[in-house]
Amino acid sequence: MERTFETLKNEIKSCQKCDLCLTRKNTVFGDGIAKTKLLFVGEAPGQMEDEMGLPFVGRSGKLLDKMLAAVDISRTKNMFITNIVKCRPPNNADPTDTQRQACAEYLKQQIDLISPKVIVCVGRIAATSLINPDFRVTKDHGKIYKKGEIDFMGTFHPSALLRFPQNKEEAFKDFLTLKSFLAQLS
Ligand code: URA
Repeated sequence: MERTFETLKNEIKSCQKCDLCLTRKNTVFGDGIAKTKLLFVGEAPGQMEDEMGLPFVGRSGKLLDKMLAAVDISRTKNMFITNIVKCRPPNNADPTDTQRQACAEYLKQQIDLISPKVIVCVGRIAATSLINPDFRVTKDHGKIYKKGEIDFMGTFHPSALLRFPQNKEEAFKDFLTLKSFLAQLS
């Protein structure tokens, strides 16, 4: 069967590749425009996301949406957003290497279907998984990393911005950089 967003979403719904399937309420596939230049990847669903089956719908997600809206980027218009792992780790623990690896093929298939030009890694877990294991958000955020056909950028996780609001300005600069980078892509 040809793999589409729907078939992949259904496959993920019944996934039992790692222990997170035992505690999840819902899998969180992602949200936004299916064919877009711009893909955001976060870490893992939290409590609200697990309950609603949608990514970044809690407090930190609302902050991210608000900052992106200011540069005219939104999931209803021009981006897709998902996570490294599709199920909530209990107590919002960092997803383990085993959990990340179990889910990696799903993200790869999402990337193949979406075919984004730019992937923004939201926070340390996404950036160390997708850009470079040594990625340091405070030092490396906002830089463009070319990997094959796709350009990557890492930025602050919005939950870190809620804890350290002094970094919001730097994070917003990343989104301005992103916006002008996107504008010069064909
Ligand atoms: N944090 C994430 O990394 N992803 C979500 O979906 C929600 C919070």
